[in-house]
Amino acid sequence: MRRWRAVLLGLFFALAPFIAQGAEMGKFQYEDFKSPERCRTCHKEIYQEWRQSLMSQSFTHHWDDVEYFKLALPHALKLDKVAEVKGGCIACHAPLAFLTGDIPPKTPAAGTRANEGVSCEICHSITGSTEKEPFNFSYTIKPGKVKFGPRKDGRSSFHGVEYSEFIKSPELCATCHDEQSPYGAWVKETYREWNSGPYAREGARCQDCHMYRAPGKVARSGKLRSDMAHHAFHGAHFPNKMGGAVDIALYADVNQASPGSSVKVRAELFNGKVGHYMPSGSCEERMLWLEMAAIDAEGKTYYLTLNKKGFKGEEYTISDGKAFAYQAMGEIMGVKEFGGVKRDGDIPDGVRIFRRPFFDPKGRMTICQWYTAENSIVDYRIGPRETKIETYSWDIPQDMSPGHVKITATLYYSLVPSSVGEFLELMPSEYAPVKVNTATLDIEVIK
Ligand code: HEC
Ligand code: HEC
Ligand code: HEC
Ligand code: HEC
Ligand code: HEC
Repeated sequence: MRRWRAVLLGLFFALAPFIAQGAEMGKFQYEDFKSPERCRTCHKEIYQEWRQSLMSQSFTHHWDDVEYFKLALPHALKLDKVAEVKGGCIACHAPLAFLTGDIPPKTPAAGTRANEGVSCEICHSITGSTEKEPFNFSYTIKPGKVKFGPRKDGRSSFHGVEYSEFIKSPELCATCHDEQSPYGAWVKETYREWNSGPYAREGARCQDCHMYRAPGKVARSGKLRSDMAHHAFHGAHFPNKMGGAVDIALYADVNQASPGSSVKVRAELFNGKVGHYMPSGSCEERMLWLEMAAIDAEGKTYYLTLNKKGFKGEEYTISDGKAFAYQAMGEIMGVKEFGGVKRDGDIPDGVRIFRRPFFDPKGRMTICQWYTAENSIVDYRIGPRETKIETYSWDIPQDMSPGHVKITATLYYSLVPSSVGEFLELMPSEYAPVKVNTATLDIEVIK
């Protein structure tokens, strides 16, 4: 067992030119870590919050299960260049399995302790990172009697408590939220986006938005704290967090127009709530898009035409039902003559998409983040406190009857393109569009 681990460890470093982290692989036993249920006996409120969050499901939830076992793991066993992701994915998604060298772990159905995901013991045993600006699971960890926490006066008879600056810092989050692919591309950089934006300058941490402070009982026998750190970790999987994340303002150049004339409409999209880009994180599959429609007095719908801006790579930011992508999925799964699936899923043609496309070494757009060689061709997402302005033209049909016309802008978000979701047989709820915001504008069509 020991030798096997040493060999694995050796292999890991030999094959990992970019991933120079993961110093803790295979150093521990499962018994070194307590189960979250143990913590629950005293930290019930926090446990219940964590249980609902994606942290507790980071290995078990369906899409993760599919991506690791259907795509990443078979690919790692086939292609040397990406061999390191066999353990790499696990280091962030099932840290217990990584730390004990249980790689690859059994599938979630087997019910091993890999299923605990990013558990209490992981975050509260992390001591720091080998990197100043962490990425790629570069955490250092010391499981045991002492739990690292944010307070100086928390006391427990069950475990020791040690105050930790690191646990309060965004660098804790960065150890898993920033990631470089084996090809050296930054495939996740939520921390770096935050760090170079306005919120870092103002001292608003990841924790302040994702672990808001409010009154709560930290522990059954502890004090009632007025500012308990809640463990909600709401993100892209929570429509309530997404709703209103970006504001929309709509303006037309006229208030009245006659049939045959052209109206110019401007949509201003302001990201005033997100501490990093939107979308962030798993950009290989996230899309935010703006649909613009006008409904006339008789209830007939028209789509407004987006005015192109002419920047490099803009074609990837405008939906096109004829564009196919993600061929690597079929290649890995051994599907013969696989031409890919629709790049933009079911988004209607001509719609602006806010996204950062990733490309594999063969130059095809990919959702396989570990197989990403290039993702700097175009980055058309909305930065923190940034406003993106889109303009549209609409030629009012000659035969339109006079009356009110309502122009509606609707901003949608999806976790995964629907075409990819259907191909991989994900649950429809995993790729259904979520409405982020909507705005309307009335104009009058006159004779
Ligand atoms: C027997 C009860 C009990 C159990 C079981 C327990 N804790 Fe605690 N824990 C406490 C008490 C009491 C406090 C102090 C609460 C307060 O601030 O008033 C505490 C505080 C903490 C703190 C905050 C330290 C700080 O900075 O104030 C952390 C972190 C923590 N526990 C983690 C854990 C983890 C992880 C587990 C499971 C492995 C666990 N606890 C299990 C009772 C318990
Ligand atoms: C993703 C990392 C992460 C996970 C997982 C996690 N915590 Fe925490 N926990 C934190 C951070 C960060 C803080 C401090 C937040 C801050 O500084 O605002 C914290 C604070 C705490 C505190 C102190 C709260 C207070 O206000 O005094 C306790 C107790 C605690 N966690 C227990 C747990 C338990 C129990 C679990 C599992 C059910 C858990 N944590 C899971 C990161 C985590
Ligand atoms: C040990 C690794 C690890 C650490 C440390 C960590 N995370 Fe995560 N986090 C993950 C993984 C893995 C996921 C993806 C879960 C999934 O979708 O399967 C995730 C997901 C999230 C999400 C998205 C949830 C959603 O609804 O889409 C948020 C928000 C988040 N983390 C915030 C934080 C914050 C804030 C910190 C620091 C206090 C932190 N994380 C620290 C591994 C980590
Ligand atoms: C000013 C508040 C704020 C701060 C600071 C902040 N976030 Fe967020 N975060 C949000 C909001 C709002 C969303 C939901 C919109 C979205 O998905 O982009 C979000 C979404 C996310 C997501 C899901 C992104 C996606 O599209 O899949 C992750 C992961 C995340 N945050 C992690 C972090 C981490 C890590 C940090 C610190 C480096 C951080 N956040 C700092 C507000 C914040
Ligand atoms: C450095 C840590 C890290 C590594 C390495 C990593 N992930 Fe993740 N993964 C995350 C975080 C953090 C998120 C959440 C980002 C977000 O919410 O946008 C995530 C999100 C995901 C998601 C999206 C979940 C959803 O519901 O949308 C999948 C699937 C996934 N990872 C699979 C993998 C696979 C497979 C690998 C290995 C090739 C891998 N991850 C490697 C940290 C990591």
